[in-house]
Amino acid sequence: MSVSDELEARAVELDAADPLAAHRAAFVSDDEVVAYLDGNSLGRPLHATRDRLARFVDAPWGDRLIRAWDEGWMDAPTELGDTIGRVCLGAAAGQTVVADSTTVLLYKLVRAAVDAQARDDPRRTEIVVDTDNFPTDRFVVEGIAAERGLELRWITPGSDAGVTADQVRAVASDRTALVLLSHIAYRSGQLADLPAITRVAHEAGALVLWDLCHSVGSVEIDLDVQHVDLAVGCTYKYLNGGPGAPAFAYLAERHHGRLRQPIQGWMGAADPFAMGPSYEPATGIRQLISGTPPIIGMLPMRDMLALIDEVGMAAVRRKSVALTEFAVEVADRLLEPYGVVVASPRDRAVRGGHVTLDHPDFRAVTAELWQRGVIPDFRPPHGLRVGLSPLSTSFAEVAAGLAVVADELRRAQASS
Ligand SMILES: Cc1ncc(COP(=O)(O)O)c(C=O)c1O
Repeated sequence: MSVSDELEARAVELDAADPLAAHRAAFVSDDEVVAYLDGNSLGRPLHATRDRLARFVDAPWGDRLIRAWDEGWMDAPTELGDTIGRVCLGAAAGQTVVADSTTVLLYKLVRAAVDAQARDDPRRTEIVVDTDNFPTDRFVVEGIAAERGLELRWITPGSDAGVTADQVRAVASDRTALVLLSHIAYRSGQLADLPAITRVAHEAGALVLWDLCHSVGSVEIDLDVQHVDLAVGCTYKYLNGGPGAPAFAYLAERHHGRLRQPIQGWMGAADPFAMGPSYEPATGIRQLISGTPPIIGMLPMRDMLALIDEVGMAAVRRKSVALTEFAVEVADRLLEPYGVVVASPRDRAVRGGHVTLDHPDFRAVTAELWQRGVIPDFRPPHGLRVGLSPLSTSFAEVAAGLAVVADELRRAQASS
C-alpha cells in the first residue's frame, strides 16, 4: 500500500469514529470542491442560512418594515453579542457587541484604552504589539500612536512561533498603557498563553486587548475567568457569518464608563431618537456602537452559533486538534520528501485551528491547487495555510487535499 493510500485509509477510519461527522451535512458543498482548507478565512455557509436569508426578505423586513427596529433590530447588536459571549467567549451578558469590522472595532477599543490610561496616569504612553501580528492590528496601532503621540514597543516572535509571557514581561512597564496581541497567530497558528500574558500585562498596570479572529469558534476561550479587559474578533471565519459579516467587541463590565470609544455616533448615544443637541453615550456595551447596525450581516452567524451551542466548544476543540494532528501527520509522511516544512507548533496544546506548511514553490502551487478544487490559502513568504474548520471539514478532505499538494510539488520538481 502506498503512503497516500495508507493515509486515505486512516482518514476513512478517523471519519467513521468522529462524533461530529454528521454535522458536515449541514453545510453547503459543491462537487467541484475536492477539499476546502480555508475555513479559517471564510467559513462555508450552512443550508439553514439560505432559508434564513430568504425568509428575512418577507418577514420581518417585508412585513414589519421600520417597525422591526423596535421589535428586535435595535437590540440585535447586544443580543447577538451576548450569544457569542455565552457560546464562544466565556463572557457574561452585557459585555459583547456586534458591529463594524474588526479593524474599526480595534481602532475604537485601542483609542478608548490608551485615552483612559493616559487620563489616569500620563506616563503610560506605550503600546506593546508584535511584529508578526496581523497587518490590520499593526496598522491601527501605528495610526493611533501617531495620532496620540504614543510609542510602540515591538516584540519580535519567530515567524513560526507566537508571543510568550516572558517576551511581554521584558517590555511591559509602568509606561505601558496597552498590550495588543492575537490569541492565535494568523501565520503560524501558535496559540498564545492568554492567562499568563494577561496576568503579566496586569502586573505592569497595563490593559490587554486580544484579537480573537482565529480563535473564536475554534478553541475554548474564558474571557471573564481570565480577567481579560478587551477583545475583538471577526465572524466570517469559524462563525461562518459570510463575507463582510460584522465583527464583535468585548469590553469587561468593570471598564464600562471609564473607557470611551472615539467614534461618537447617534446609535451609541443614550437615546438615539432624542436627536439631542450633543452626544451623551449610552451606558454599558451599547456605547461601542456608532452607526446603524448591519442587521442583514448578522443573520448567517446565528446558524453557526446555534450549531456550536448544540455541540459545545469542548467538542469543537477536540475535533480541531484531531484534524490538525492528522494534517501534520500527512505533511510529515507525504510532503516532507518534497522539502515541505511544518511551520506551526507540533505541540497540540499550543496549536490553534490551522497548520502552516512552508515550501519555496507554494505561491505557484496554490494557484494550481485552486484550479483543481483544493482550496487552502497562501501567506508570504512561502506558507500554505491549511485551515480546518472543525464542523465542516472531514479527515478524508485533509488527506485528499494534501495528496493533490504532493502531486503539484512532484510536477513542479519534475519540470524544473
Ligand atoms: C488576526 C486578524 N485580525 C483582523 C483581521 C481582519 O480584520 P477585518 O475584519 O477588519 O478585515 C483578520 C482577517 O483575516 C485577522 O486574521
